[in-house]
Amino acid sequence: MIKVFFVCLGNICRSPMAELYFKKLTAERGYSDEFYIDSFGTCDGERGNPVYPPAKAELSRRGVSGSHIAKPLTASDAESADYILVSDGGNIARVLSITGGRFKDKIHRICDFTYDPRDVADPWYTRDFSKAFDDIKDGCDAFLDKLERDGEL
Ligand code: 4NP
Repeated sequence: MIKVFFVCLGNICRSPMAELYFKKLTAERGYSDEFYIDSFGTCDGERGNPVYPPAKAELSRRGVSGSHIAKPLTASDAESADYILVSDGGNIARVLSITGGRFKDKIHRICDFTYDPRDVADPWYTRDFSKAFDDIKDGCDAFLDKLERDGEL
């Protein structure tokens, strides 16, 4: 069982979009039983909130269903994960602040396994949820390809 945690700031847009898309992707490839997938925020401000409606609407447009309730990442959550895939560099710094600098080797940006390693474009500011989804899809697809290529699946 590979434990993959997606992380962003609020856990209402980028990371739940990634969690729900990656659940669908892994199920479609026949890997449902191989993964434990969840998502978290690096701040406490959105705790208890559902997926932000424009993010949920974008997921629906792309054929991705499911729900998530926002919660902040703890150091013990991070310790238990195999991969911590983070929306952007700023939130990698926040994850490392939560972990006290530990677990660096399992912390990556969602798009780090693509041909164009980059941050996920933050839809909170761009209001472009379609672009955010495209980045997340590219990152998740490339990550699953990497696991297959490396013989982890
Ligand atoms: P997320 O989006 O980190 O992708 O869930 C945001 C949610 C809330 C805020 C910023 C980004 N905020 O500033 O409240």
